[in-house]
Amino acid sequence: MAPVIVLVSLFCATLASSTTGARVELTRIHSDPGVTASQFVRDALRRDMHRHNARQLAASDGTVSAPIRKSPPNTPAEYMMTLAIGTPPVSYQATADTGSDLIWTQCAPCGSQCVQQPTPLYNPSSSTTFSVLPCDSALSICAAESAGATPPPGCTCTYNQTYGLGWTSGTQGSETFTFGSTPADQARVPGIAFGCSNATSNDFNGTAGIVGLGRGDLSLVSQLSASKFSYCLTPFQDTNSTSTLLLGPSAALNATGVRSTPFVDNPTQPHYYLNLTGISLGTTPLSIAPDAFALKANGTAGGFIIDSGTTITTLVDAAYQQIRAAVLSLVTTLPTSTEGGLDLCFVLPSPTSAPPAMPDMTLHFDGGDMVLPADNYMISASGLWCLMMQTGINGLPSILGNYQQQNMHILYDLSQETLSFAPARCSAL
Ligand SMILES: *[C@@H]1O[C@H](CO)[C@@H](O)[C@H](O)[C@H]1NC(C)=O
Ligand SMILES: *[C@@H]1O[C@H](CO)[C@@H](O)[C@H](O)[C@H]1NC(C)=O
Ligand SMILES: *[C@@H]1O[C@H](CO)[C@@H](O)[C@H](O)[C@H]1NC(C)=O
Ligand SMILES: *[C@@H]1O[C@H](CO)[C@@H](O)[C@H](O)[C@H]1NC(C)=O
Ligand SMILES: *[C@@H]1O[C@H](CO)[C@@H](O)[C@H](O)[C@H]1NC(C)=O
Ligand SMILES: *[C@@H]1O[C@H](CO)[C@@H](O)[C@H](O)[C@H]1NC(C)=O
Ligand SMILES: *[C@@H]1O[C@H](CO)[C@@H](O)[C@H](O)[C@H]1NC(C)=O
Repeated sequence: MAPVIVLVSLFCATLASSTTGARVELTRIHSDPGVTASQFVRDALRRDMHRHNARQLAASDGTVSAPIRKSPPNTPAEYMMTLAIGTPPVSYQATADTGSDLIWTQCAPCGSQCVQQPTPLYNPSSSTTFSVLPCDSALSICAAESAGATPPPGCTCTYNQTYGLGWTSGTQGSETFTFGSTPADQARVPGIAFGCSNATSNDFNGTAGIVGLGRGDLSLVSQLSASKFSYCLTPFQDTNSTSTLLLGPSAALNATGVRSTPFVDNPTQPHYYLNLTGISLGTTPLSIAPDAFALKANGTAGGFIIDSGTTITTLVDAAYQQIRAAVLSLVTTLPTSTEGGLDLCFVLPSPTSAPPAMPDMTLHFDGGDMVLPADNYMISASGLWCLMMQTGINGLPSILGNYQQQNMHILYDLSQETLSFAPARCSAL
């Protein structure tokens, strides 16, 4: 695992009052150069499947759950941020996830009910800034559940957050969080509501927690009142560079080539929905119904979201089949293969052969086009060359995965309600 560094973060009490915000480096949990592309694809397929299962559960019982992959060690493309909790600060790494809200970490004592984590456990009784989150706090999960009833004095709120194939449970607390790795760079933010987990399912073995960056009140960006945040993800083949997450005012895009599209409001799910109106391969617009990516059934089905935690883009079947057919029509000289896990793979003459040139793919969003070079939608893996997209589960949203977001600086502007993006060399940001 590559060393993780958090860079300058120059803010005083909160990000909201800061003039620059925070710069955090994101590290893939597995940036081992020894990971082959085919292993990467296998792991990504497995992880994404867990997320899709989670979404299916959420859709079936009508509740809002927070889908997340399980994140064992030695899996690539997990974007981890380093932060610290408590006073004195205890440093840990957690998955940065725009697809969920709760911020949680494991708390001592939890004995056999905790999973192993790479860093020492945080113990709230050793911290001078820990307090239990009162049940009448606006951020109490219990307050939402008790729907207006006055909680008893001294009430503490326990939660059990389920995630498709896993869960984590504990007591809601409030703590001071620290961003920045060296004393000179440290920025401390008090009073952040978080989940202090004393029991976690083994699906999370090897991780210390999750930092939710979603749209809900419990997410880090909501609690910091961050008006915006951005990230720039380096390609997975680039094992030497770290990706960057910018929180607050410092999140801004290079002025050239920036496109923007409004978020689509959906009160029923805390995801970042976008209005995708069409897709082209090269200059050819694909024959996709204009409402293929529209929200359906009052927001409980359909739609199109952007997610830092899913790897492979997943599209409603009618759209996926158009892309598949268009790619197939352009690659006439290579045999196809059903190996490799992905739906459409071609066999290269040898594992070191360069794949044929392919045109850009363009995602036509309301207000701006997102251009994906071939390297953002095709992947070379052990002599196979595959379309890094797949068909979705009926009813669930289509998802723009992080493989497609490589080498793009992506800004979530929460005050303007827009997503902006521009091509970038993320290793140079
Ligand atoms: C976790 O904390 C809750 C609340 O204090 C307690 O009821 C439960 O027994 C604890 N679980 C474990 C495994 O320690
Ligand atoms: C949390 O919920 C899951 C799924 O319902 C269940 O299997 C697990 O035992 C629960 N954990 C605790 C500590 O209650
Ligand atoms: C958790 O992961 C560690 C290290 O990867 C492994 O040694 C341990 O057996 C795992 N624990 C369980 C319960 O699977
Ligand atoms: C990563 O760094 C190593 C040693 O510094 C170098 O040999 C290698 O070419 C670099 N790889 C990439 C993809 O830049
Ligand atoms: C959407 O919600 C409205 C108001 O609750 C209801 O009248 C309508 O039938 C719903 N439509 C669908 C497609 O569920
Ligand atoms: C999506 O964009 C199209 C084209 O700009 C527009 O006509 C439509 O109203 C938009 N839909 C939503 C839900 O914003
Ligand atoms: C900004 O845009 C210019 C021109 O397109 C490009 O050369 C430069 O690398 C970009 N910088 C970043 C940080 O993306």
